[in-house]
Amino acid sequence: MIHKQVCLIIEGDFFLNYHEAERKIKDIISQKNSSVLSDVIDFLFDNFDHYSWIGIYVVRGNDLILGPWRGPQATDHTKITVGKGICGSAAATGKTEVIDDVSSDDRYLSCFISTKSEIVVPIKKRNSVIAEIDIDSDKKNAFTKDDKKFLEKIADMLSKHI
Ligand code: SME
Repeated sequence: MIHKQVCLIIEGDFFLNYHEAERKIKDIISQKNSSVLSDVIDFLFDNFDHYSWIGIYVVRGNDLILGPWRGPQATDHTKITVGKGICGSAAATGKTEVIDDVSSDDRYLSCFISTKSEIVVPIKKRNSVIAEIDIDSDKKNAFTKDDKKFLEKIADMLSKHI
């Protein structure tokens, strides 16, 4: 019985985290500051331990150009051709990429030796990819279905601010 109660509390907490975060991000976006993208990145970085590096790439012609980012180090990959790497693949297909173990994906362009898994979520306007959220994690298998669902909602909200 005690066991069951503990599980419910943990589940409730988990659900609230993503839900609460979504609500708070809506608030950040509604403030319409010129720094919406950086503010959202800061919020994600400060509130989710498994998000070790976060950046937004913006599509410019056939390239992805790194915009605001947050993490312990800068990346050398500030420009990625659409179709190359995990980022370029997500931009080409318009589909979220979840890579549980970056070392087993031939497309992976390495930025940090600490990275073990990655998620790339396209930001779309009228069905075209205009930007994307790229998150690296220092943990393997870091990104769950909840992360994917949550970040796809955030990508949707950010679409008007690119
Ligand atoms: N790993 C990405 C490149 C961007 S860095 O993670 C910041 C890729 O394979 O496209």
